[in-house]
Amino acid sequence: MDGGFNETAAALLEWYREAGIDVVVSDIPRDRFAETATEATRRGAPASSPMAARRDGSAGPANATADSAMPPAQRSSAPSLSSMPSAATTRDDSPGSGLGSPRVTVPDEVAVADARERARSAQSLEELEAALARFEGCNLRLTARSLVFGDGDPRARLMLIGEAPGREEDIAGHPFVGRSGQLLNRMLGAIGIERDSVRVTNTVPWRPPGNRPPTPMETEICRPFIERQIELVKPDILVCLGSPAAKAILGAQEGIMRLRGQWRSYVMGLDEGQAIPTLAMLHPAYLLRQPSQKRLAWRDLQSLKQRLDGLPPRA
Ligand code: URA
Repeated sequence: MDGGFNETAAALLEWYREAGIDVVVSDIPRDRFAETATEATRRGAPASSPMAARRDGSAGPANATADSAMPPAQRSSAPSLSSMPSAATTRDDSPGSGLGSPRVTVPDEVAVADARERARSAQSLEELEAALARFEGCNLRLTARSLVFGDGDPRARLMLIGEAPGREEDIAGHPFVGRSGQLLNRMLGAIGIERDSVRVTNTVPWRPPGNRPPTPMETEICRPFIERQIELVKPDILVCLGSPAAKAILGAQEGIMRLRGQWRSYVMGLDEGQAIPTLAMLHPAYLLRQPSQKRLAWRDLQSLKQRLDGLPPRA
């Protein structure tokens, strides 16, 4: 075969890879942003671009930055849902879909309310995972290969929450299995904790395409599911890995460098109103890029160990 052609094809593939395109979902390109805008216009709602909500210059979940300039998707300052396009879940029957006519959703407060209802009615982790698998309110599921629900001990005393699955997690269907997951395992091991004995999950259960950060609206839509997962596991201690998780779970305003190492409370569930001590730590992906910051992570791990050692035996 023509060597020039091979080189060109290899260069094109490399360009795709660098742009974050590493999974083929269809032979024909589709502009889902345009589809969403068209659908919103058809419904008479303002067509706001989901791209507008992207975090500027920040790296994706597998490359979490120490902090992010974007406003958090958090209870206290959640994006104005009413400013989003109106509800429209459409049948995607346009030609060229290689995905068997998936539904494209215009995310809005109806999707959030639907998520809340589905999450609330789940009485076990199995039911919650099944409810998420059926949930069509978050378009991330259209490009992700797997639903990455969470793994580890369903009754763990310690629960760790990251931002969103990356490429390796999407392939495996499990959280924190790539390089940052391996570092996380070593970090836990350093304080005598086996990965299998804890619960590990993410604020968003589908990999955002190209590892971009989840938008505030995507985080908001998925929030009821992570909140319900916390309720069902009922851990004694929560750890938020990285700034996006800390902001989403704790509603924290501060950057991770200020927040890390501090113990806060996460108030669980409307019915129980129980506060769970929660520690924000640096994300392992950040530590892989900034190994000198591991000394801070070590301090936080020791603080975590002290808390765990001080827990009364489980009833
Ligand atoms: N980064 C995350 O935040 N979560 C994962 O599962 C993997 C990498």
